[in-house]
Amino acid sequence: MTRIYFNEVVTRDGFQIEPNFIPTDDKIALIDALSQCGYAKIETTSFTSPKSIPMLRDAEEVMGRIQRVPGVEYTVLVPNLRGAERAMESRADELNLVMSTSETHNLANLRMTRAKSFAALEDVIKHVDGRTPINVSLSACFGCPMEGDVHLEVVQQFAQRFADLGVRGLTICDTTGMAHPAQVSRMVEVLQTQLPHKQLTLHFHNTRGMGLANVLAAVQGGITRFDGSLGGLGGCPYAPGASGNICSEDAIHMLDAMGYDTGIDLNKLLNVARYLPSIVDHEVPSQVAKAGRITDLHPAPDYVHELKGETA
Ligand code: COA
Ligand code: ZN
Repeated sequence: MTRIYFNEVVTRDGFQIEPNFIPTDDKIALIDALSQCGYAKIETTSFTSPKSIPMLRDAEEVMGRIQRVPGVEYTVLVPNLRGAERAMESRADELNLVMSTSETHNLANLRMTRAKSFAALEDVIKHVDGRTPINVSLSACFGCPMEGDVHLEVVQQFAQRFADLGVRGLTICDTTGMAHPAQVSRMVEVLQTQLPHKQLTLHFHNTRGMGLANVLAAVQGGITRFDGSLGGLGGCPYAPGASGNICSEDAIHMLDAMGYDTGIDLNKLLNVARYLPSIVDHEVPSQVAKAGRITDLHPAPDYVHELKGETA
């Protein structure tokens, strides 16, 4: 059975655009519950400027108070050197650096050109100097909502430049849900050939309903690492019209049904997913949490038993 590794991003990508501050205690309780579900990784929070992302201003406290489960990596999003310092002080297992492959999206999200972002992240990588593993998330790899197409060659170039700096992994992000399955197949074929020894993770948003189709294309192309967000929450605050990540429990349910080994206890996960709306105080796009698993059968109506000649 092929092993698939899931990184749960709900408390970072999911919570960063929630309109109301989610109490720190609720974040910690949710991460602790998710830690019991079998995830390979949890992206706990981000060490960004509290003015830019006020929702995650409690990053230190969250990292300090969660109960770390052996075997689960606690990764954090880091935009700059200051963030890297804070993350290492908080004993993050991995730093997830971020920049966009689209110039306009990078300016909108990080307020600098790609060249400046790359130089700044290069400094971070050199400063960390192997003390903590580094992953780089490349945003808008499948298209930019402001610029349109982002050429595959551009994604390849940034991926290569970071690989040459010795990062452990790269996450190829469809930040605003523009990817389609044929594009995903091509992307994963090219990148796996180019970087056979790097951990490659795919990060999809379901903005246009293609999220699970894209997971399928990636997994059939040999990808074994995915980001997902509980309940399908999420979205980049600097991408117009962005909406939720692929829903973790829906993606895991699909891959489970297909015979992949996700390492996740889906019943436990669905129990956690079912209390997510009470934490965020609104409905979430998740489907399996509402409909149940395909193996959760329902009793037939009495008349069906009668038609079958059975006593109800
Ligand atoms: N942690 C805490 N504070 C930080 C910080 C960090 N990592 N980076 C910058 N700051 C603070 C600075 O100290 C400064 O504070 P001050 O105004 O009190 O002096 C303020 O933020 C502005 O700093 P500056 O260096 O001018 O940065 P900026 O305003 O250009 O912001 C980013 C740059 C990248 C730090 C900021 O835009 C950011 O955090 N963006 C979030 C990106 C993100 O997570 N997007 C969603 C995920 S893709
Ligand atoms: Zn995202």
